[in-house]
Amino acid sequence: MNYNKMTVEDLAAKGKRVLVRCDFNVPQDENGNITDEKRIIESLPTIKSLLNQGARIILCSHLGRPKGEFKPKYTLKPVADRLSELLGLNVVMCSDVIGDDAKAKTAALQDGEICLLENVRFHAEEEKNDADFAKSLALLAELYVNDAFGTSHRAHASTAGVANYLPAVCGYLIKKEITVMGKALENPRHPFVAVLGGAKVSDKIAVIEHLVDKVDTVLIGGAMAYTFKKACGRPIGISRCEEDKLEIAKNLLLRAVGLGVNILLPSDHIVSDHYGPDAKAHYTKHIPDDMMGMDIGHNTIERFSRVILRAGTIVWNGPMGVFEFPDFSEGTKTIARAMAKSVGTSIVGGGDSAAAVEKFGYAGWMDHISTGGGASLEFMEGLELPGIACLNDK
Ligand code: 3PG
Repeated sequence: MNYNKMTVEDLAAKGKRVLVRCDFNVPQDENGNITDEKRIIESLPTIKSLLNQGARIILCSHLGRPKGEFKPKYTLKPVADRLSELLGLNVVMCSDVIGDDAKAKTAALQDGEICLLENVRFHAEEEKNDADFAKSLALLAELYVNDAFGTSHRAHASTAGVANYLPAVCGYLIKKEITVMGKALENPRHPFVAVLGGAKVSDKIAVIEHLVDKVDTVLIGGAMAYTFKKACGRPIGISRCEEDKLEIAKNLLLRAVGLGVNILLPSDHIVSDHYGPDAKAHYTKHIPDDMMGMDIGHNTIERFSRVILRAGTIVWNGPMGVFEFPDFSEGTKTIARAMAKSVGTSIVGGGDSAAAVEKFGYAGWMDHISTGGGASLEFMEGLELPGIACLNDK
């Protein structure tokens, strides 16, 4: 895929109505308060650049999965309010997406004014990438900017379809994400280390397959490590295991040996007899029959940390254990600390690992924390992201 895309800087946006697709899919508490505004903050450089150019800005996004119906719980109004505070100017909220209110408010915009359309997923046509819906969105504007990296793996009307009808460029966030992660994958400083964790091997197989001939070392933790341990004939007790992936895990390990790549698995563990916030933690080197692995042990933490500290580039996707429960959070916390301390370029894929890094206070120490969960994973798998592929090449 060509990542050399036209950007917001290549637009003559003065006086033009510009449709900007952001990823404002932010977590909220039960009262609708935004609990993590990273994605809103990361959208500001593009919005400010367009404001400085004197553009008429029409923001759009999805929020949650309302499945094609108007559901008040998924309104983008709290995002409009927060953006108004952050920008110090009124972000006008539209009560629909392509209806009369959106048409009137977008047409009334003056240079340097902004409005936000309602949640594009209130229309089922959005996720179907329906051509008529994409055309209706496009009719609101004259130019299109995609800055929704977190949604760029979705071929939806507002992330891809609309680019068939308008000149289409990327914003600063997409540019930053593809530049930092693209460089790490194409031209990494060695030793290049991938740290992979999380619950399911099936989520990460394609990433390992894509990275195995680029990296020097892969560190595997989290529940997915137990499928690999079992594939090596090691006891895993009642740990989570994807039986149907054992053969693939074995082949990946063999391929790595052939390529001279080190795949390191946990050699000691924090285990418990059940999963839950009340689970009692025990340390072990060999997992007993009635126990399940919940975190990596201290020897593994030390071994993994040493590799990370000496790395030139580290990409991390997926926690090392059940970090939501304090007794099983040490592995994830210490790996985050090692990444923070490492002189190498530290890149954290979005989702759970990004949440962990925030939780343990190391976010400011990382070189890059992706705003994309699924999107950063697909990027690391080497897949074409439709929301980026559709943009005009330089
Ligand atoms: C995300 O949070 O990963 C993106 O906003 C995409 O959301 P989705 O998984 O509902 O498409």
